[in-house]
Amino acid sequence: MSFFEDLQKKISDKSVTVAVIGLGYVGLPLVHSMCKKGLRVYGIDVDQKKIDQLLAGQSYIGAVESSDIETYCSKDLFKPTTDFSCLKDADFIIICVPTPLDKNFAPDLSYVEGTAKSISQHLRKGHVVILESTTYPGTMNEVVAPILNKSGLELGQDYFMAYSPERENPGSETHSTATIPKVIGADTKEALTVSQQFYSIFIDEVVPVGSIAVAEASKIMENTYRSVNIALVNELKVIFDRMGIDIWEVIEAAKTKPFGFTPFYPGPGLGGHCIPIDPFYLSWKAKEYGKVTRFIELAGEINTNMPDYVVDKTVNALNDVKGLAVKGAKILVLGIAYKKNVADQRETPAFPIMDALQARGANVDFYDPLIESVGENRNHPDLAGKKSIAWDVENVKGYDAIVLVTDHDEVDYEALVQSDCLIIDTRNKLSSFKNPKASILQA
Ligand SMILES: NC(=O)c1ccc[n+]([C@@H]2O[C@H](COP(=O)([O-])OP(=O)(O)OC[C@H]3O[C@@H](n4cnc5c(N)ncnc54)[C@H](O)[C@@H]3O)[C@@H](O)[C@H]2O)c1
Repeated sequence: MSFFEDLQKKISDKSVTVAVIGLGYVGLPLVHSMCKKGLRVYGIDVDQKKIDQLLAGQSYIGAVESSDIETYCSKDLFKPTTDFSCLKDADFIIICVPTPLDKNFAPDLSYVEGTAKSISQHLRKGHVVILESTTYPGTMNEVVAPILNKSGLELGQDYFMAYSPERENPGSETHSTATIPKVIGADTKEALTVSQQFYSIFIDEVVPVGSIAVAEASKIMENTYRSVNIALVNELKVIFDRMGIDIWEVIEAAKTKPFGFTPFYPGPGLGGHCIPIDPFYLSWKAKEYGKVTRFIELAGEINTNMPDYVVDKTVNALNDVKGLAVKGAKILVLGIAYKKNVADQRETPAFPIMDALQARGANVDFYDPLIESVGENRNHPDLAGKKSIAWDVENVKGYDAIVLVTDHDEVDYEALVQSDCLIIDTRNKLSSFKNPKASILQA
């Protein structure tokens, strides 16, 4: 039996074994959807703390319940480990490690390369290696394959490679790993066939495409589309605000058009591990082809300037409403996660807002129901270790201004509005709450 036939047999009787490398926001929910369908999964991470938590039956990702981790571990379906030697027992190896930018805004593929080196040491005939991390088109064939080939095995003959971009939407109540259609690309028919059959075990809809490069490019296109459209609506927000027009009302009106318009919403700036970063993977790669990605650069510039816009609005509101200077003012930033209902602070616009207000002499605190303290942070090192205040409306009344950056559900907005505070609302969260004594300004 060829290894292709062997894999097909294992997939059809669900005896296939998987190794997921990188157990973060993407990797752990993926493990969850596989174990739910009875697949045996090794979960590998270099972070010993995460592995210890998982072995103790604790989840650290909102979308995955601790009770599920406990069940999967006790049934021997899920085996969290830092030891890559388990790869020899796996049929499918799925890589979900970070793909950040370096300090020059160039792709930092060191995590992917490091993982590929670890896999290469354990690569055997019959392995299928799939990358899910977001990256530029060409990564699998130009970066990953050369490292794997150092094992002496031949791509296509001895092992397969595929790329399937992750579309996880943390905090979403409407979509989960299993219900989001999954694009998959491979460079040979056999690799595509087994990968498609494999994902179909635990994903409702699998979308095969003609090559790895198409799959890689599709993810970058999706996130560039978001970045550019968010920048457009952010720019319009600033213009309409100057004209005295409410952008949120404009969007509600425009989206009644049943075709040709998709609503995007303004905010305090981009955040998270995807939208502010992924488009620049394409910008970097495009330069190799002598091309400049003008939309990406412009969207990046507009979105990066939004925190400054919020700060200016806050400074003006303090002056106009309270007759106060920003220097010495007590300001509370409400919500520091990059989006509602997640505890993820990566690239959050709250940090540049807090830094800029502090630089102008304000005393800045924050409250976030999901984040106890600011983590280590390359771009905002002075904020690291800062702790959330405890929620208490009486206490909140002591602030000269509150900047609502993240509209988590777990906040008592009614009580906040009734506190009569000056609030700068970057999410249009408070427009439906009424209190004539409160000063609520949009930013
Ligand atoms: N977070 C999202 O919403 C999201 C959505 C779609 C795509 N993505 C993409 O998925 C990828 C992973 O993102 P994430 O948000 O899950 O990141 P994450 O930081 O939450 O998780 C990555 C994990 O990989 C581990 N890791 C790092 N190097 C490793 C190595 N050499 N071997 C084993 N483990 C290693 C880290 O310890 C961490 O636990 C990125 O490319 C990201 O762009 C993320």
